[in-house]
Parts: sequence; C-alpha cells; structure tokens
Amino acid sequence: MSQPFVPPLDLQSLLAPHREAIAAAIAEVIDSCHYVLGPKVEAFEQAFAAYCEAAHCIGVNSGTSALHLATRLAGIEPGDEVITTPYTFASSAWCASYQGAKPVFVDIDPATFCLDPAAVEAAITPRTKAIVAVHLYGHPCEMSALRALCVKHRLTLIEDAAQAHGARYKGKRVGTLGDMACFSFYPTKNLPCAGEGGALVTDSNKLDTRGRALRNHGSVERYFHHEVGYNYRLEAIQGAVLGVLLPHLEGWTAARRRLAHRYHELLADLPLKLPREATGCESVYHLYTVRVPERDKLIATLKEQGVGTSNHYPRAMHLQPCYAELGYKEGSLPVAESAAQQAVNLPMFPTMTEEQQDRVSDALHAYFA
Ligand SMILES: Cc1ncc(COP(=O)(O)O)c(C=O)c1O
Repeated sequence: MSQPFVPPLDLQSLLAPHREAIAAAIAEVIDSCHYVLGPKVEAFEQAFAAYCEAAHCIGVNSGTSALHLATRLAGIEPGDEVITTPYTFASSAWCASYQGAKPVFVDIDPATFCLDPAAVEAAITPRTKAIVAVHLYGHPCEMSALRALCVKHRLTLIEDAAQAHGARYKGKRVGTLGDMACFSFYPTKNLPCAGEGGALVTDSNKLDTRGRALRNHGSVERYFHHEVGYNYRLEAIQGAVLGVLLPHLEGWTAARRRLAHRYHELLADLPLKLPREATGCESVYHLYTVRVPERDKLIATLKEQGVGTSNHYPRAMHLQPCYAELGYKEGSLPVAESAAQQAVNLPMFPTMTEEQQDRVSDALHAYFA
C-alpha cells in the first residue's frame, strides 16, 4: 500500500486543534458588527508589539501594504534608489516602485540567501534613500553591518520580516533591528491569519502616529485628511484569528527549529547544500531550503516518491520582465541567479512528524543512491 503524501506545508493539521477557538473569536466579531480595525485588532497590535519587543505595531491588510507604508513613511520619492535583494518575493521591490523610486538589486550571501552587506555598500549612491533587508526563509540578515551603512549614509533601514516572525539577531527580535519592520500574516507564513493580513512594527512614536493615519485614508479624525492616505486597514476577523494564534507561535517556532536540526543530521551525508545559521542568528525556518544542481530532476523524483516540495523564486527579481527597463542581464547577480536555479524547499511545518521527516530523508537517500 502506498504511503500518504508528505505535503510541503500542512496548514490543516496546524490549525485543527485551534478550530473552536478561532470559530468563537470570529463569531464574536460577527456579533459585534465591528468589522474593520476595532478592539480585536488593537488587542492583537499590542500583543504583537510585545512579542516583537517593540514599542508599536500597526495592523494592515497585507505584508505588501506594510512595505509600501514603510517606503512612504521613509519619504521615498521618484528619483530615489532603494537597495534590496533580487532573491525574494516581489513585494520587497514593489515598495520602491510604488513610490516611483528605483529598486537597486544587489547580490546575496550564498550561505544565508540574505543581502551581502559588501554588495550593498558598493551600490550606495547619492540617490540611495533606504535599504530593504529581507530576512529570507526565516534567517535574519547581517543587520549590524547594514545598520552601520544606514547610519553612515543616513539611510532608512526597513526590515522585510514577512517570513521571520520571532527570529533573533544577536539576541534581539527581528522587527526591532531597523527603523521599521514589515510582517505578513498570509496563511502560509509562520503566523497565519484566515486571509490577507500584515503589520508594520516600529519603535518610533512619530512613525507610528503617521503610519496609523496613513493606513486609514490619512485621517485621525474621520473625514479630515491631513495627507493622501490608503485603505490598508486590517479586518477585525483577521485581528481575532491572529489574537488566538499568536500565543502558539513560540511553540511552532520551537518545533520548526527541532525539525531543522533533525534535517541537518539526517541529510548531512548527502551532496546537498543545507541551510546553516550565521553566527549570532536564530532562524525561524519559515522554509528548509537546500540547494542542488539538478533541482528539477530531484523535485520530480521526490514527487514520485510521495514527497512534496516547493520552489519559490525560480526567477530572481532583477531578471523579471517587469524590471526589464532597469537593464540587468543574466549573470549580473550570479549568486542570486544560482540560488534561483538550485533551491528546493523540503517539507517544513510545525506539525510535521518524525515519520514524515524520515520519509523525506529516505526519498532523498534513494535519489542519491
Ligand atoms: C519576503 C516577503 N515579503 C513580502 C511579502 C508580501 O506579503 P503579503 O503576501 O502579505 O502581501 C511576502 C509574502 O509572500 C514575502 O514572502
């Protein structure tokens, strides 16, 4: 009899134990008739700020909105340049483009998939206004070096922490390592909601006050608009779901880290490049991403063996058609391009069993045998 498929992510098993609590919280919102922002969102904002060890959290309707709010708050304008990684989800670059600025892509560190600070430094020009540091796959960027560059060149440091809730760098949580940090609660993320959701986290009172108004049409008092704003408000149902799930995040992260360490041991003898934590970094293993030259063949074989994988960024952002006018060519950013060709995400979710993990390991050993 064939064994059940091991999925890359199993949201169902993660959320099943919390179904009743989620349903009760949603029912409360429905009965309250308070559907946008409101007490559930405020309670979650306070809890998530405390979780991040930060002063403020502004709930918004996606990670993409949080990133846009951050570039707007940073005063990014047409003609400005924003340095970021090409090996990421598109929104890390959109936030520059939305403000009419130019995303400047620089290469990554092959060990962590995160921005290479030396490449960032080499790309700084008088037009550079901000750096978007993406803590990819849950691993923090080299923030001391990036922060030093931002201080020296008077740049805004924006963390894209969409995949890194709770990760630590030199003991501090991501979300407190730059001027502003952006989180996503899209259902596949480490802290999921039941739809779209995101947050901007900051220690700055000024950015918090202005950001709160901008997410709500630029108004503090209804129908009075000091700035042209957005409708980036978080819905109450999402605030309620997030409020139920946040207390479980630490346990989920511990499970992810246990599984990652077990993968390290199980796969150590294989010709795969495994993820490793840089010194001072505590990854939350949003994904467990390995690298292998013949990636597509491996993916197909694992699928035949009943093991699901994913591959998130098959084309780096600097080579996407939407950014053709920026003039990057194949070979411009070789480390990112090779990651795009070689990376495979193995199954990783907090409720994954050791039996499922053994099946992944067995399938990989069979492939290489
Ligand atoms: C690194 C990164 N940044 C930004 C985002 C955007 O978040 P959202 O999907 O909530 O808009 C994502 C989500 O996929 C992401 O992975």
